[in-house]
Parts: sequence; structure tokens; C-alpha cells
Amino acid sequence: MKKPTVFVLNGPNLNLLGTREPAVYGSQTLADVEQLCAAACERHGFALRFHQSNYEGALVDWIHEAGRLQAAGELAGVVLNAGAYTHTSVALLDAVKGTGVTLIELHISNVHARESFRHHSYIAGAAKAVLCGFGVQGYGLAIDGLAGL
Ligand code: DQA
Repeated sequence: MKKPTVFVLNGPNLNLLGTREPAVYGSQTLADVEQLCAAACERHGFALRFHQSNYEGALVDWIHEAGRLQAAGELAGVVLNAGAYTHTSVALLDAVKGTGVTLIELHISNVHARESFRHHSYIAGAAKAVLCGFGVQGYGLAIDGLAGL
């Protein structure tokens, strides 16, 4: 039997992790985050698909791909840090609703302790769970959470 797959999707500017506002996002890079996710997936017997894009449509396409895997019974879930698109994107909300993927919305920072424009998420209402403020270790926690569902 195929291992269930976890998609970890990262939106705009997350390629800058490590040098981007380290007081907010820490000093670990996106490559470090990928390693942490690989270790979490290994622990739970999941296959990992890890992606980052600065383009909204690329994130939509990956959610569609995850939806096809879910329909085939081969998806453990999606962990999505949509970055700023969280606060702007009806297209990402529609992709999550349209595919019905099991999705964890994740933020490295506690968005509720920051500017008010970060308090609203278009995606949260269609997410299974929302996790924010744990720094990059939140990615591992989200994968542990998917394993427990
Ligand atoms: C973020 C929070 C967003 O508000 C911001 O636009 C990001 C990163 C986080 O991980 O804390 O790009 O999603």
C-alpha cells in the first residue's frame, strides 16, 4: 500500500526565511523547515510533498493535486502557510472548498498579536484546524496533528 501523502505548501516570501524579519520568523531557513517536515513525516509513515511559490495560482494548482490524491484515498492532508495570501485570497478558499482537502492553516508568527489586517483569514473557515505562533516547529506539530486525525 502507498504511504499517505502530506503536502506542505508555502506561499509568498517564505523562500526568504532565515533572513526575513528574524525577530518575527526566526533564523531557520525554508530548507531547515523542509528537513523538519521530512522528519515528522518519517515518524508517521507519510510521504512528503514540500513546495513554495510566490504565485497564488501555483498554490491553487497544488491544492487541486492534493484533492486528486484525497479522492484516491492517498492524502493525509495539506499544511498550508499561505503567507499574505491568507488575508487576501478568495481563490485559495475556493480551492480548499472545491477539493474538500483536509487542510491545516499554519502561521509561524502569532498573526493575532500583529497588525489587524493579519487577523482575518479567508481560508480558516474551510480549514480543519489553524495553528499559529509556534515558530517553525509549528510545521512539525501540524503534521503530528494530521497523524492524529
Ligand atoms: C505568516 C503570517 C502572514 O501574515 C505573513 O504575510 C506571512 C507569514 C506567518 O507564517 O506567520 O508571510 O503566514
